[in-house]
Order: sequence, then structure tokens, then C-alpha cells
Amino acid sequence: MKALRKIAALLFCAASFALPEAPKDSCISCHLELEGEQSKPAKVFDSDVHRQAGLGCADCHGGDPKDNSMNAMSPAKGFRGAPKKTQVPEFCARCHSDIAYMHRFNPKMRADQLSQYLTSVHGKRLKQGDTKVAACVDCHGVHDMLPASDTRSPVNPMNVAATCGHCHADPNHMKGYNIPTDQVEKYGKSVHAEILAQGDTSAPTCTTCHGNHGATPPGVNSVANVCGTCHVFFAQLFEKSPHGPAFAQMGLPGCVQCHSNHEIVKPSDDWVGVGPNSVCITCHSAGDKGNAAAQKMAGDIAKLKTFEGRAEEILSSAERSGMEVSGPKVELTSAHETLIKARVNVHTFNDAEVQKLTDQGVEISQKAYQAGVASLRERDVRRKGLGVSLIFIVLAITGLYLKIRQTETRHNA
Ligand code: HEC
Ligand code: HEC
Ligand code: HEC
Ligand code: HEC
Ligand code: HEC
Ligand code: HEC
Ligand code: HEC
Ligand code: HEC
Ligand code: HEC
Repeated sequence: MKALRKIAALLFCAASFALPEAPKDSCISCHLELEGEQSKPAKVFDSDVHRQAGLGCADCHGGDPKDNSMNAMSPAKGFRGAPKKTQVPEFCARCHSDIAYMHRFNPKMRADQLSQYLTSVHGKRLKQGDTKVAACVDCHGVHDMLPASDTRSPVNPMNVAATCGHCHADPNHMKGYNIPTDQVEKYGKSVHAEILAQGDTSAPTCTTCHGNHGATPPGVNSVANVCGTCHVFFAQLFEKSPHGPAFAQMGLPGCVQCHSNHEIVKPSDDWVGVGPNSVCITCHSAGDKGNAAAQKMAGDIAKLKTFEGRAEEILSSAERSGMEVSGPKVELTSAHETLIKARVNVHTFNDAEVQKLTDQGVEISQKAYQAGVASLRERDVRRKGLGVSLIFIVLAITGLYLKIRQTETRHNA
């Protein structure tokens, strides 16, 4: 009897070694046979990041994946079914908040998604029973979940705006909340979206500014301050400017006051000053110091552009007539650099700081202009020289011709 059992056990062992795959998961095999919605999870599951990590249906839903009958889904076997929307975050967090468990699979995986999520408007509202907000599966999908790094994932930076847009760009879904539904449209017109679309992920998408899970990204106390995480130098200048403390006191968000939050476009020089496109005149009226500073800055920037343009023109003209002006042209590029720096220094909101740079640029431009003038003068001298020598050559040829004619007539006669 004992021997028989041993043989049976051995045979079983051999059989399982011979099998190319582990025994089929009963959840998958039965669900594949079902109709519609009940079969979909099993059909798409192969590509799921959890499947790739070796997990099965029962790791999330519970139950017994070795039982081929409906009993596989008996609560007695730990089956917990499909979670209601309000239960989803905790359903996922059973694993994702368990740092020891997660690190067995991936030592770099964070385990703070739920705790972060609970700080967001989404998390707070879901706790109050509002099921129109985003829970984990609204952003990540379910059953065919991909790692965020996969470009097909709905949370990959390339797809985030569209994912948020499913709700935030749908006025029907957002009815009753009294917030705009134009974020996706406006963001779509921004420099940031344009640069991201070129594949440059240093530009922000929705979650870079708003946080993936929490209310704000790490290291920022408010979304309004997020710009400074990338535009560090601008933020430093702004903080030290008269606007830094004044805006803080009035509770005005910094950069977005002039740049907006979503439709951030490429600024231009006519934003400074008092013209129709000026951002300064929304707060500063004629006669106050800010208005005067705006006019001064705009004037200085315009002056530098005029001088730079004039120098550029004369150097190009010299170059077209074959003169060597590469030296002064290189120098003129440093005048352009001072222009770029002056635009940054607008954020000191101190006209003297802008003037320091524009003065430098004007001086460089003037030198380059003088080099252009000198080079054109030299061209004229050379042209004159060429004219004189041409006259001599023509005279010589004519002389020679006459001489030949003279000899020929003498010869013929
Ligand atoms: C013999 C076939 C069969 C097996 C085996 C099976 N299921 Fe099901 N499952 C069904 C059918 C049929 C339904 C839909 C009817 C129902 O809700 O009871 C269903 C429904 C479900 C639901 C939805 C229940 C809900 O709350 O809406 C989940 C989740 C589920 N199965 C997961 C599993 C998991 C996990 C396993 C493996 C441990 C498994 N199933 C094994 C046939 C099966
Ligand atoms: C990573 C966890 C996870 C895994 C693994 C998983 N599910 Fe689900 N499943 C969920 C969640 C969460 C829901 C609820 C989805 C929702 O609210 O939209 C769900 C819902 C369902 C439903 C209800 C119908 C539906 O689509 O909403 C069925 C049936 C189901 N799962 C079956 C399965 C089967 C079969 C497998 C294995 C092939 C599986 N699930 C693997 C998390 C999981
Ligand atoms: C049974 C435990 C478990 C449950 C429950 C679970 N996960 Fe996972 N999840 C994992 C493991 C393990 C990985 C793979 C980690 C790895 O290999 O990098 C993973 C990976 C992921 C990833 C990919 C992360 C990345 O970018 O690399 C996402 C997204 C994810 N899970 C979301 C969810 C969501 C949403 C839910 C709830 C619907 C959920 N998980 C439920 C265990 C679980
Ligand atoms: C509002 C959309 C949104 C919601 C809701 C959401 N996520 Fe994420 N999730 C993201 C984005 C975006 C990323 C990061 C993509 C990247 O790294 O570029 C991410 C990344 C992840 C990762 C990869 C590791 C990490 O932290 O970067 C896991 C795991 C994950 N989420 C799980 C969850 C779980 C669990 C929940 C629910 C508690 C949840 N997510 C809710 C959008 C969301
Ligand atoms: C399933 C629908 C849904 C998805 C997907 C979704 N949201 Fe939301 N979100 C809402 C709802 C509903 C509110 C609540 C509006 C409110 O309370 O003002 C909200 C609130 C917010 C708020 C707070 C607005 C306020 O009141 O100040 C921000 C910020 C936000 N979502 C950003 C995002 C981002 C970023 C994404 C994409 C990564 C996203 N949401 C995806 C539905 C969604
Ligand atoms: C460059 C950073 C940045 C990006 C990118 C960004 N936002 Fe915002 N968002 C902000 C700031 C700043 C606010 C205003 C917060 C305040 O006033 O306190 C805001 C406000 C919001 C609000 C509140 C309602 C409103 O319109 O004022 C929602 C909802 C929102 N953003 C969703 C999104 C979505 C969806 C995307 C992607 C399409 C996105 N945001 C991209 C910075 C950003
Ligand atoms: C994740 C990093 C990041 C964040 C956060 C960010 N930006 Fe940008 N921003 C960029 C990149 C990258 C560019 C394109 C390269 C450049 O011009 O610096 C850019 C371009 C710009 C430009 C256009 C510059 C030009 O010369 O065309 C402006 C204006 C701007 N951002 C303002 C903001 C404001 C205001 C905020 C906050 C509401 C913000 N940015 C948040 C990375 C960021
Ligand atoms: C009071 C209005 C105002 C505030 C506040 C402001 N900016 Fe500007 N910003 C401007 C103006 C005006 C220009 C255009 C300067 C020019 O082109 O002559 C500009 C230009 C820029 C540029 C493009 C510079 C270039 O090289 O062309 C960036 C980037 C930028 N700002 C970022 C920021 C950031 C980040 C903040 C917050 C720390 C901020 N700005 C706050 C008015 C403002
Ligand atoms: C959102 C409103 C707002 C905008 C836009 C704005 N400012 Fe101001 N500005 C203020 C406030 C508030 C103060 C501090 C109170 C005061 O002195 O008027 C201030 C102060 C100043 C000061 C210091 C004045 C002093 O008394 O010493 C200067 C200079 C200045 N702004 C220049 C500018 C320029 C240039 C622009 C356009 C590029 C601009 N501001 C755009 C609100 C604004």
C-alpha cells in the first residue's frame, strides 16, 4: 500500500514536470468561456502588469484558483468579489501600501499611493461617498493595467491630459461642481504641451503640477508655487522682487498672475510696458511707480533691439558684398545674450536691473555697428582701387591694340 502511494506520488511528480505550464488558473479558464463583461477581464489579462509579476485573479479578488466549479468564488475561500468604487483605493492598497510585500517585487516601488491619494480632492470626496471623482482604476484602468513607463499606459505623461479630460473636459460629468472644464483645452495650447508632444518629458503635464496621487507634488506646499521647481531662477528673482511679498500678502498666486496656469504661452516683449498687450497695466495705472518702471523697461528693451537690428543689418550687407565680418558677428551674439538675460531680469521688476543689461547690449551692438561701417568703407576703397586699376588695364589694352593696328597697316602697305 505504502509502495503504491509512493509510485503514484512519483508518477504525479513526473507528470507535473512534463507539463509545460503550471496547472491552468480556474478563474481564467472558466471566465474565458463566459459572455460579455464577465469574460473581458480574462481576455485582456495577459498584458496586465500584475499578470507579468506572476499574480492571478485570486490575488486581488480572493477565492480558490484550483477549484474548477463556481465554488472557487465561495466567500469561505476568501472570495471578496469586485469592489464598489468607494472601496477601490483600499482594495489596491492591501498590497500597494505594504512596503515589505511590494519591495519583494520591486525594491524601488513607492508604497504611499493611498496615503497621498487621501490628501487629494479626489480622495477626500470619495471618502464622503462622491463616486464622480477619480479612484485608482479611473486613471490606471483595470485588468489590462500597464506600468506607467509604458507609452500605452493612460498615466504615461503622453496620455495623462486625455485621461484627466475624460472627466475634467466633460461639462456633463462636472456639472454641479462649479469649476471650469477648459483645463485640457487650454493646456493643449501651452508651450508645455507643445514641448511634451515633441517627446521632451522635462515639460510638465497635469500630474507634474497637481501631483500623481496627492494634492501637490512633493516639495511644494501649493500648486501655485509649482513653477519654481523647474524655473528656479525666475522664482528666485520673483521672490526678491517687490511682487514677491506683496502678492503673498494679498494671497495672489505668483507666476500665474501674469502667465495663467494652463494656457502658458511664449511671452513677448510687448507684455512689458503700457501697450495693449501689457500685463502690467492690469494692476498699475498711469502715475504709479510700477507703471513708470514698466515704461522704462519696455523702452530699454526696445532700444537694445533697435541697436542690435541696425548692427545686424549693416554686417549682413557687408557680408553680402564679400567682406569678412565673422568676428563682429560673433560679438553681436553676446549682445543678443544680454537681451535674453534682460527678459529674465524683468522678473526683478526693477528697471535699473534691466537697464544694466540693455546698456551692455547696446554698447556691444554699437561696436559691431562700427565694425560694419568700417568694413563697408574698406569695401568702397577696394572698389575705387579696382576702378583705377581697371582704367589702367583698359588703357593698356587700347594702347596695345592701336600699336598692333599700326604695325598691321604698315605691314600691308
Ligand atoms: C466555473 C466558472 C467560474 C469559475 C471557476 C470562476 N468564476 Fe468568477 N464568475 C463566474 C460567473 C458565471 C460569474 C457571474 C455570475 C455571478 O456573479 O455569480 C462570475 C463572477 C465573478 C466576479 C464578479 C463578481 C461581482 O462581485 O460582480 C468576479 C470578481 C469573479 N467572478 C472572479 C473570479 C475569480 C477570482 C475566480 C477564481 C478564484 C473565479 N471568478 C472563478 C464563473 C466562474
Ligand atoms: C489588480 C487587481 C485585480 C486583478 C489581478 C483582477 N481584478 Fe477583476 N477587478 C478588479 C477591480 C478593482 C474591479 C472593479 C472594477 C471597477 O470598479 O470598475 C474588478 C472587477 C472585476 C469583475 C466585475 C466586472 C468588471 O469588469 O467590472 C470581474 C468579472 C472580474 N474583475 C474578474 C476578474 C478576473 C477573471 C480576473 C483574472 C483574469 C481578475 N478580475 C483580475 C481588480 C482586479
Ligand atoms: C495582490 C497584490 C496587489 C493588488 C491587490 C494590486 N496590486 Fe498593483 N501591483 C502589485 C505588484 C506585485 C506589482 C508589480 C510590481 C513590479 O513588479 O514592479 C504591481 C504593479 C502595479 C502597477 C505598475 C506600477 C509601475 O508603474 O511599475 C500599477 C499601476 C498598479 N499595480 C496599480 C494597481 C491598482 C490600481 C490596483 C487596484 C485596482 C492594484 N494595483 C492592486 C500588487 C498588487
Ligand atoms: C488622478 C489619476 C490617478 C489616480 C486616481 C491614481 N493614480 Fe496611480 N498614478 C497616476 C500617475 C499619473 C502615475 C505616475 C506616472 C509616471 O510615473 O509618470 C501613477 C503611478 C502609480 C504607480 C507607480 C508607482 C508610483 O507611485 O509612481 C502605482 C503603483 C500606482 N500609481 C497605484 C495607484 C493606486 C493604488 C491608486 C489608488 C489609491 C492610484 N494609483 C490612483 C495617476 C493616478
Ligand atoms: C473619474 C473622473 C475624474 C478623473 C479621471 C479625474 N478627475 Fe479630477 N476631479 C473629478 C471630480 C468630480 C472632481 C471634484 C471637483 C471639485 O470638487 O471641484 C475633481 C477634482 C480635481 C481637482 C481639484 C479641483 C478643485 O476643486 O480645486 C484637481 C486639481 C483635479 N481633479 C485634477 C485631476 C487631474 C490632474 C486628473 C488626471 C490625472 C484628474 N483630475 C482626473 C473627476 C475626475
Ligand atoms: C504648469 C502647471 C500646471 C499644469 C501643467 C496643469 N495645471 Fe491645473 N492648475 C495649476 C494651477 C497653478 C492652478 C490654480 C491653483 C490655484 O489657484 O490655487 C490649477 C488649477 C486646476 C484646477 C482647478 C480648477 C481651475 O481650473 O482653476 C483643475 C481641475 C486643474 N487645474 C486640472 C488640470 C488638468 C486636467 C491639467 C492637464 C490637462 C492641468 N490642470 C495642468 C497648474 C497646472
Ligand atoms: C516640470 C517642469 C516645469 C514646470 C513645473 C513648469 N514649467 Fe514652464 N517650462 C518648462 C519647460 C521644459 C519649458 C520649455 C523650455 C523653456 O523654455 O524653458 C517651459 C516653458 C515655459 C514658458 C515659455 C518660455 C519661452 O521662452 O517660451 C513659460 C512662460 C513657462 N514655462 C512658465 C511656467 C509657469 C508660469 C509655470 C507654473 C504655473 C511653469 N512654467 C511650470 C518646464 C516647467
Ligand atoms: C508681474 C508679471 C509677471 C510675473 C508675476 C511673472 N512673470 Fe514671467 N514674464 C513676464 C513678462 C512681462 C515676460 C516677458 C518678458 C519679455 O519677453 O520681455 C515674462 C517672461 C517669462 C519667461 C520667458 C522668458 C524668456 O526667456 O523669454 C518665463 C520662462 C517666465 N516669464 C517664467 C515666470 C515664472 C516661473 C514666474 C514665477 C516665478 C513668472 N514668470 C512670474 C511677467 C511676469
Ligand atoms: C496682479 C497685479 C500686478 C501686476 C500684473 C503687476 N504688478 Fe507690479 N505691483 C503689484 C503690487 C500689489 C505691488 C506692491 C504694491 C505697490 O507698491 O503698488 C507692485 C509693485 C511694483 C513695483 C514697485 C513699486 C514701488 O512702489 O516700489 C514695480 C516697479 C512694479 N510693481 C512693476 C511691475 C511691472 C513692470 C509689471 C509688469 C511686467 C507689474 N508690476 C505687474 C501688482 C502688480
